[in-house]
Amino acid sequence: MALKTDAGDFIESYYKPLNSALYNLREANEAAGIPIILKEIEGMLSLLLDICRPKRILEIGTACGYSSIFFACKCPDAHITTIDRAEKFLSHAFESIDEFNLNDRISVLQGDASDVLRDLNDAEESLNSYDFVFIDAGKTHYKEYFELSEPLCTKGALIVCDNILMSGWIYDRSLPGAKRHRTNAKYMKEFLEFLNSREDITVSVSGGGDGLAAIKLNG
Ligand SMILES: C[S@@+](CC[C@H](N)C(=O)[O-])C[C@H]1O[C@@H](n2cnc3c(N)ncnc32)[C@H](O)[C@@H]1O
Repeated sequence: MALKTDAGDFIESYYKPLNSALYNLREANEAAGIPIILKEIEGMLSLLLDICRPKRILEIGTACGYSSIFFACKCPDAHITTIDRAEKFLSHAFESIDEFNLNDRISVLQGDASDVLRDLNDAEESLNSYDFVFIDAGKTHYKEYFELSEPLCTKGALIVCDNILMSGWIYDRSLPGAKRHRTNAKYMKEFLEFLNSREDITVSVSGGGDGLAAIKLNG
């Protein structure tokens, strides 16, 4: 869904995969039309992960497991918990996680993200335990996912949200598709306004890829 730009293509030409197995997985996912993080976003995540060195990563939006496996390869000491509801994607995710021998490092929680996040909030051991959260699911629910993730985070954790500019529809109603996706763009804009209104967090929104917001919980 991301709007391709000349700058995006140029930046992607410098893409360096973490390893060949991950690159093959990206190629297979892209060829099958499965939604995965753009190369440019992978580069930004890579830098953020190097800076944060998280030990426990929470991901909302597994799809076929590409980004979870990327997190696990990038952060060999981290455990990843990832949430998705789509059986059609998750069956591939389980296969790939198995092929990469990552069953003990990636926990897949199947269900609606809001329900699963509420369950995690009810489990005392999950509170204050994640130091990196990646939100990449249900574009109308980012505010809810963010608020449900906060109690699960350690002090100073980073919450990163993909597709924040929604192909530009969030700021330009004349772009192709903007009318059809008006509701999604409206919710995303409300989420950005909510983030902007919070004095207790540090927010950076970048226009790379389809837009990435990185939020540091200053707690
Ligand atoms: C863009 S894909 C995730 C891509 C993945 N992060 C990657 O880069 O490999 C978004 C995923 O969010 C999931 N999703 C959307 N709404 C959801 C919801 N309400 N609860 C759980 N998962 C949801 C979809 O099933 C889809 O697999």
